[in-house]
Formats: sequence, structure tokens, C-alpha cells
Amino acid sequence: MKTVGLVGWRGMVGSVLMQRMRDEGDFALVRPVFFSTSNAGGRGPDIAGVDSGTCQDAFDLAALEALDIVITCQGGDYTSEVHPKLRATGWRGIWIDAAKTLRMQDDAIIVLDPINRPVIDAAIDRGIRDFIGSNCTVAAMMMGVGGLFNHDLVEWMTCTTYQAASGGGAQHMRELLTQFGTLHEAVAGELADPASAILDIDRKVLAAQHGLSAAETAHFGVPLGGNLIPWIDRDLGNGLSLEEWKGMAETNKILGRGPGLDATGPEIPIDSICVRVGAMRCHSQSLTIKLTRDLPLDEVEDIVARSTAWTRLVPNTRDATLAELTPAAVTGTLTIPVGRLRKLALGPRYLGAFTIGDQLLWGAAEPLRRMLRILLAA
Ligand code: HSE
Repeated sequence: MKTVGLVGWRGMVGSVLMQRMRDEGDFALVRPVFFSTSNAGGRGPDIAGVDSGTCQDAFDLAALEALDIVITCQGGDYTSEVHPKLRATGWRGIWIDAAKTLRMQDDAIIVLDPINRPVIDAAIDRGIRDFIGSNCTVAAMMMGVGGLFNHDLVEWMTCTTYQAASGGGAQHMRELLTQFGTLHEAVAGELADPASAILDIDRKVLAAQHGLSAAETAHFGVPLGGNLIPWIDRDLGNGLSLEEWKGMAETNKILGRGPGLDATGPEIPIDSICVRVGAMRCHSQSLTIKLTRDLPLDEVEDIVARSTAWTRLVPNTRDATLAELTPAAVTGTLTIPVGRLRKLALGPRYLGAFTIGDQLLWGAAEPLRRMLRILLAA
């Protein structure tokens, strides 16, 4: 039985990972060792039928060296500090990581096995030992329309994203809800009075947004409640945010495409505008795709629907869209709906689509536990 160390299991992504591993019975297949960066010696998590023991120190290289596999959701700072030191000891175990730190390194693979299993299998054969989860937006998009990429049908793509507060972290979700509360409070009296004037309500809400305290905007910097923020992550100084850069870089790396990779084909241009909206934990995306050839819409639909076992084609109707294609409908599920699929007025090779994914499930935790399963079966 492989000894698997879990680091960062208490955080938001880690907690979702733990729940999925419990649900799927993963702990029965490994000898888990739980680590903590702040509470070594504390109790491990409660898992039925598993002795989770006491937490080891996540910075103790000797304890990590004893592992066959590390799975970390601890974040990029931990990876930057510990991974190079652990590899420098000569440790040849497998490192599975949610953080972006190692993602684009030549000897790391981005894992999203329903889409890139051949890339993963080839990497295992080559002796690759670092397997990293992708950016959540990229994972959600690929789980939706990955079939088009795998059939070499995408000449280029543009995305506009509608990303949930959870992408920033747990504190961001709390901040969004706090802001909604403050805004509601500002007009609760008027809302209770059907005769009150909507423009008065609107004016008061705007004043409340402008009046949010520093504590109420500590994480987003500006209001997100009743607002949106068309910038996510660092400013790269060339007109792109880091989140937008990842869209092209990571999608191509997942596919093994582009210079320096195993080149299943040339790099596919992907341009994004990434926008934070007041959703809780689902990232949504509006896509424009130029197809490499003109294919009838029903054939395109068929390929999209077969992208993965979790992809669900939503009929391009109002009723189906409202019922199935919203963050509230998707949150907490592994289903990746793709809807609004149609040929655009731009021409027969132009496709529009809209897709949604729970950024904590396929966007973060699920590919990691599936990578563990692949290794256990290898
Ligand atoms: N960077 C993403 C976001 C989350 O801010 O929504 C993690 O990939």
C-alpha cells in the first residue's frame, strides 16, 4: 500500500478534496499521513475506518521523504519552499499539487485526465514525478468543450469569464456576502414598502457601495456585491492579467501542444477577458470558437457532449438554460453543462457556447484525487 501525505487538507480546496476522497473510498486504498504547517502533533481528520493519527510537521523533510506520494493543497508559498528542498534530498516520490508554482515547468504535467489521459500516461512512462492541477477556469472550460480540442476542431478561441468569489479564497466569499448584507441593510426599509421609488433605492445602494468600509473591501479592493471586476490576479504589464495568460498557456500545455511540448500540434491561440462576478463557487465562461472546418451543428453538439462523461449538453432554449445553465444549478456537482451552442452570424465556422463548472470540484480537487487513482492503478 502506498503511503500518501496530505498537506493543506483543512483549507477550502483541501476540505473539498477530503470530502471527495471520503465519498469515493480513496482512503481505503492508501496509508494516509496528515501534515500541518501550523499544528503538528494535532489530531488528523475524522475518517470512518481510517486511523488518521496525529499531524506531522509539513516542513519536516525527513517525514516527507518517507512518503510515496504527496498531495498538497497548501498553496504556492508552501510548494516554493518545500518542493525544491525535498527534491534536493533525492526524493523520487510523486508530488501532486493544486498550486500554480510548478505548473509550467518542463518536468511537470498539468493533470485533467478526462481530457489529457494520453499526455499523463506518456509522462508516467517518461518518469515524470510532478503532477499539477490546472487553473480552475481552464479546467472547467476543457471539461466542457475539450472534445472540440481533442478532435482538432479549434483554430482559435476567445473566452469571457464570469468567475466566482471562491476563486480568490474563502475570505473572498465571506466578503461578498458581507457586502450583499450591507447593501440590503441600506435599503431594507424601502424594499419593505412597495410604494418606495426604485431610483431612490438605486441611489442608496450606490451610496452604500461607495461607502463600504476598508474592512468590507479588504480582499476585492472594491465592491463586488452588485458590481463586477474585469481583472483577476496579477497585472502582467502587457495588457493581460495573469488569469488571462493562463487560459492560452495552460490549455495548450494540458493538450501537450506547442513549442517544447510533445507537440500534438501547434499552439492554439486563446484570448480571454477574465471577470470576477458575485457568484459563490462556479466559474462560467462565454466562448467564441473558430472551427478548423465547417461541421454541421448536430455533429458539433455530439462531439461537445462526448467531451467527458461529466459534460452535459444543454439545449439552446430559454427554459433549459434557466433550469440547467446557472451557477446555482451547477454548484456542488461534477456536471459540466455546455449550452447556448450555436453557429454565429460571423460565418459557418464560428461557434458560440457557454459553460459552467464548480471551481472547487473539477477546478481544483477532483483532478488531484483522480491522479492519485491513476498512480495507484499504474
Ligand atoms: N485564479 C482563479 C480565480 C482561481 O481567481 O478565480 C484558481 O485557479
